[in-house]
Amino acid sequence: MTSTAEQVDRLAAWEAREPGLHRMLPYVGLAVGILLATVAPVPVGLSVVPDPVVAGLAAAWIAWFVNLHPGWTSRRRLMGIYYTGLIGFAALLVLDSPWYGFFAWVGFLHAFLVLHGRWRFVGVAATGVLIGTAQGGGLPSSAGHWMLWAVLVLFNVGVASGVSWFGMITDRQNANRKRLVEELAEANRRLAETMRENEGLHAQLLTQAREAGVTDERQRMAREIHDTLAQGLTGIITQLEAAGQARDRRADWQRHVDTAVALARESLTEARRSVRAVRPEALEAARLPEALAELTRRWSTINEVNTEVNVTGEARPLHPEVEVTLLRTAQEALANVARHAKASRVGLTLSYMGDVVTLDVRDDGVGFPVTDPPSPRRSDGGYGLTAMRQRVAGVGGELAIESEPGGGTAVSASVPAHAGGVG
Ligand SMILES: Nc1ncnc2c1ncn2[C@@H]1O[C@H](COP(=O)(O)OP(=O)(O)OP(=O)(O)O)[C@@H](O)[C@H]1O
Ligand SMILES: [Mg+2]
Repeated sequence: MTSTAEQVDRLAAWEAREPGLHRMLPYVGLAVGILLATVAPVPVGLSVVPDPVVAGLAAAWIAWFVNLHPGWTSRRRLMGIYYTGLIGFAALLVLDSPWYGFFAWVGFLHAFLVLHGRWRFVGVAATGVLIGTAQGGGLPSSAGHWMLWAVLVLFNVGVASGVSWFGMITDRQNANRKRLVEELAEANRRLAETMRENEGLHAQLLTQAREAGVTDERQRMAREIHDTLAQGLTGIITQLEAAGQARDRRADWQRHVDTAVALARESLTEARRSVRAVRPEALEAARLPEALAELTRRWSTINEVNTEVNVTGEARPLHPEVEVTLLRTAQEALANVARHAKASRVGLTLSYMGDVVTLDVRDDGVGFPVTDPPSPRRSDGGYGLTAMRQRVAGVGGELAIESEPGGGTAVSASVPAHAGGVG
């Protein structure tokens, strides 16, 4: 069984052969005409020129205009001259011998090959007249013969014009169909191209999403490590250094070592909790105001700096993520005071307002020049403020840092007060 595509290909191959057939048939017609006119001559020949000479001239005419210059078929005026000549030769031959009706028939074919629009019908009608004449045995010689001639001519012209008319409609429809098929093929090609582009974009989006996910996760891990292990280790180092300096004072030495051990335990617990993505222990046991108060009390004891904690507004449970953010902010702000500020007093204020909650940590220490954007991270750390900023931005809040050398430091986090469960 042949597929539709094969059928279409085969039909297209036949269609491609048609012009070649049109170019060859005139010579077959001439040959048949000459042969029949020779073997069965008709006595009514009118021509003064011997018909083989006319036939030869006709063949040369066709060869010159059609076979040797195939590109000329699009030159309308030239083809008008050619067609007129063709009909002239056919008329001379038919008048000489009706057998040349076999040749005159070419007029129908070439009307379609070289003429356009209504000129086709003019050509078809002229050919019809010649064919009718040939069928009647040549030019009429009596009134009855004229009648017969008229009937034959009318029949040929009528039938040929009708067939040509339908042929033209079919041609036009074929051309339309061809155009539609080409448009469809073009639309399909564009669709395939768009789909390929879409696939590319999709893959690109996936890669970007994956990369963004990796970056987010890397930042999260960096924050967690900074806020649990790094902060803990910093505290432990400070305590062990202090223990080293208090070697002669047994009680102080012991206190520092005990604190270092406690800090190590806490850091380990916190690190484990953060790996399991569990909330900090301080928030597990108490609400945010109490957790902050406890954190500050312990920090004050360890670092021997006076602190004051204030809670304003009506304390209420916040979204767990918001509470963790504020606790971590306080932790890092206090760690920074301990490491850098040389402060004598630290104040911590937690304010519950309508739809925001703010946390301020102020110290009266040495301060530092705040740069905007923050100065690039150092190789030995310097990630605390960045992590703080990322955490606060992550819950839709803002972080402000005010400080100047000698003027103390104020860190202020303002976050939306999303209500949260007991968490
Ligand atoms: N309260 C403060 N008083 C004085 N200087 C401060 C204070 N807080 C921060 N700084 C300055 O800002 C710098 C950046 O702080 P940040 O917390 O980002 O890094 P870090 O504390 O040096 O290192 P880490 O990554 O361990 O936190 C500090 O090195 C310090 O110079
Ligand atoms: Mg820090």
